[in-house]
Amino acid sequence: MKAIQYNDYGNSDVLEQVDVPAPSVQNGNDVLVQVKAAGVNPIDIKIRMGFMKAVRPVEMPFIPGGEAAGIVVAIGDDVSAFKVGDEVIALTGTNAYAEYVTANESFVVPKPKGLSFAEAASIGVNIGTAQSVLFITGKLEKGQSVLIQGGSGAVGGAMVQMAKAAGAYVIATASGKGVALAKSFGADEVIDYKLQDVARVIKDIDLVADTAGGEAQAKLFQVLKPGGVLLSIVIPPSQELADQYKVNAGFVASNISAQTLQNGIELLKIGKFKPVVSKIFKLEEAAVAQDFLTAGGINGKVILTID
Ligand SMILES: NC(=O)c1ccc[n+]([C@@H]2O[C@H](COP(=O)([O-])OP(=O)(O)OC[C@H]3O[C@@H](n4cnc5c(N)ncnc54)[C@H](OP(=O)(O)O)[C@@H]3O)[C@@H](O)[C@H]2O)c1
Repeated sequence: MKAIQYNDYGNSDVLEQVDVPAPSVQNGNDVLVQVKAAGVNPIDIKIRMGFMKAVRPVEMPFIPGGEAAGIVVAIGDDVSAFKVGDEVIALTGTNAYAEYVTANESFVVPKPKGLSFAEAASIGVNIGTAQSVLFITGKLEKGQSVLIQGGSGAVGGAMVQMAKAAGAYVIATASGKGVALAKSFGADEVIDYKLQDVARVIKDIDLVADTAGGEAQAKLFQVLKPGGVLLSIVIPPSQELADQYKVNAGFVASNISAQTLQNGIELLKIGKFKPVVSKIFKLEEAAVAQDFLTAGGINGKVILTID
């Protein structure tokens, strides 16, 4: 099968298209999926660059790709929820930049009707991460206020939509065209972070979800009410600042599974969640696609498709 892999950490030129044997069902709960589209995520680039070596070393050669959408072509003996021919989303963790990939059935969900394969491949990491931050760890409730830092990004956009659907008052930061996009997701207020200082214009927030990290994170402590919560999916927040502002802060590693996608997929079915695909590349263009994501300023998800 066709796949994109690398043998060493480095820039996007380490990615090469190869012909390797297709995987097969190894366990009773495995589903083998013919990949039609795969999501490109920032973590794919962080792993490729070697930034994750300490926490997530990979065995070379390595095929990237944490999420795919495609068609079931084989199932293990114990799989009862899926059959050959089903269109599915597979949350694979790795190996999705390829024509075929396997996943345990607890990481597979039926592709929602009406979504293209590209759209279906765009929602798993976004929804699972938003669910983990807002509801599993953040315990966001109806009537509470939430600030989403990066509200037009792939994960941030999902957070805005899911927080809004839960009845929260949603404020998002974005820039340029992303301001209108975050508004279209239902944000009650959008702050253009390139024009305004978020710490000066909002205060007394219950929950802050940081999807941008960097130096901008330090300001986010100032917008919380005492006892409020700051959760980042990018870098662990400063405990010193948390103590200074009398708030709680932490890093969230997302829990992405069929179970944690349930809420977002239900919202999608009733029209309260829409996937946003920013740009589609062919599998062969994986290096260009990753560089496109690295360049930033993207509103939505970057996708690889396989004919
Ligand atoms: N911990 C986990 O389990 C987990 C799971 C998924 C993702 N992540 C991480 O989360 C991050 C976001 O992922 P993603 O796929 O959503 O990426 P993305 O689509 O590139 O979104 C990043 C967002 O951050 C915004 N941003 C950048 N600098 C900013 C600043 N100074 N102030 C406010 N907003 C700023 C960008 O807005 P502009 O485009 O307007 O600059 C963009 O909306 C990545 O680092 C990824 O690795 C972690």
